[in-house]
Amino acid sequence: MRIGIPAETHAGEKRVATVPEIVEKLVKLGFNVAVESGAGDAANFSDEAYRTAGAEIVEGAAKLWAESDIVFKVTVPTSAEVELMHAGITLIGFIWPAQNPELMQQLAAKKATVLAIDALPRMLSRAQKMDALTSQAGVAGYRAVIEAANVFGRFFNGQITAAGKVPPAKVFIAGAGVAGLAAIGTAAGLGAIVRANDTRAEVADQVKSLGGEFVKVEYEEEGGGGGGYAKVMSEGFQQAQREMYARQAREVDIIITTALIPGRPAPRLITAEMVQSMRPGSDIVDMAAERGGNCELTEPGQVVVKHGVTIVGYTDLNSRLARQSSTLYANNLFRLTEELCKTKDGIINVNMEDDAIRGLTVIKDGEITWPAPAPQLPAAKPAVSPAPAPAAKGHGGGGKPASAGKTAVLFGAIALLFLLIGAYAPPAFLGHFTVFVLACFVGYMVVWNVTPALHTPLMSVTNAISSIIAIGALVQISPPMLSGMDRPDEWIRALAVAGIALTAVNMFGGFAVTRRMLAMFRK
Ligand code: NAI
Repeated sequence: MRIGIPAETHAGEKRVATVPEIVEKLVKLGFNVAVESGAGDAANFSDEAYRTAGAEIVEGAAKLWAESDIVFKVTVPTSAEVELMHAGITLIGFIWPAQNPELMQQLAAKKATVLAIDALPRMLSRAQKMDALTSQAGVAGYRAVIEAANVFGRFFNGQITAAGKVPPAKVFIAGAGVAGLAAIGTAAGLGAIVRANDTRAEVADQVKSLGGEFVKVEYEEEGGGGGGYAKVMSEGFQQAQREMYARQAREVDIIITTALIPGRPAPRLITAEMVQSMRPGSDIVDMAAERGGNCELTEPGQVVVKHGVTIVGYTDLNSRLARQSSTLYANNLFRLTEELCKTKDGIINVNMEDDAIRGLTVIKDGEITWPAPAPQLPAAKPAVSPAPAPAAKGHGGGGKPASAGKTAVLFGAIALLFLLIGAYAPPAFLGHFTVFVLACFVGYMVVWNVTPALHTPLMSVTNAISSIIAIGALVQISPPMLSGMDRPDEWIRALAVAGIALTAVNMFGGFAVTRRMLAMFRK
């Protein structure tokens, strides 16, 4: 099949849906790739680079749309572009079906198949490699800090120079989602003192791990609205939050706002009075400008100066880093194409049985299939143990036997077993047996209650098991005066030595793997 890459037509849009490096990979998957002449110019990808990578350069959008089976786009198609589409075409790009019902009707009338990258079920871990919302928000968060630095009159980092002492800039980030976390990392990397707040308390650790300080609102309310998104908070919380934000506005030099609740206008967090209370020369970058802004004085798409504070309301932060945004977006679409073309023969299969593909597919062969049913996620572990099953009604009358009865029989059997062992087994065996049963119980409780603080839960449990094995084996081989036991047989000591050797492999191997994993996140 032929994949077409048109030049983006929205005013000021500099991104392009694929890059030469990805063209090569698409060709290897068996596709022909056609790129409209000049499509990558604004992102610094020349026609020549695409040609070298194996793409055909096509003159004009009309020819490109007419000859393509699949079209990759970044922004929502315009009516003029929909006109150029032929029946049966597959379109992949941002669509925002909830906000664009008319466009959905137009695309359906064209008998197209449309995969909206913004409709990807992000909660599926398999979908992360295709998550263009995340990749784009990450770039935008980074760029927001660069824009803030651009209009700020000082260094971000503190410096002591012969010409005087410069204090570090103080940056406050409102909303620690994808863009917010990227902004925290970038501002901290530039040397600023970074503080951040979010209604979802669970992001506090992520803020800290990126070098920021999480500033809490002094009001107890859980801010998660499900699926990692926020909810609208109570009036009491909002009041407490406004007071805290007002304090921060007086103290910091730069505010970057990224707060968003999906499907709602941007929450108003920075009032005109807060702007007025900031020091002259301070600045605000309002990433939510397109949705009405988190700051009362933001003008979307503009840079304005109010009360001596510069307020940046750019809505095209990704376009301002077009080469990086395009590369990441192209990678997301390539990963999606791999999922669509598992046979690697250049033919896509829009498999509606696949949760990720089903979620993305908003129109299939002209039929609107949006919204998709929620994907099947693995059942979450219950937070508390379930209530005991209600006793069956009546006794023996067709209902399930009561679980309490089963437990009583089990305990009875165990008690009988102990009685028999006590009556017939030699006294030494009884002592060992009691220790063995208690050790099993204590070992089980110790191992399964280990908190996976740093490692994965599996690694924590295996490390806990290894530690217990090591302790047991050390007790066996230690001199009698230390272990308090008689000198064990040679073969027990040999087994203990083997146990220590094997468990050491497991422990040190675990640390080596953890080190390698952590190294992946270090610069
Ligand atoms: P996200 O959903 O990952 O993060 C938003 C965060 O805001 C969440 O962590 C949420 O808990 C938090 N939040 C919601 N209400 C809040 C409140 N009242 N107080 C404090 N925190 C609150 O969204 P993402 O992807 O990080 O995007 C952030 C914003 O950036 C969005 O408005 C998005 O439209 C915008 N954006 C702007 C671009 C531009 O060019 N200006 C480019 C890309 C994204």
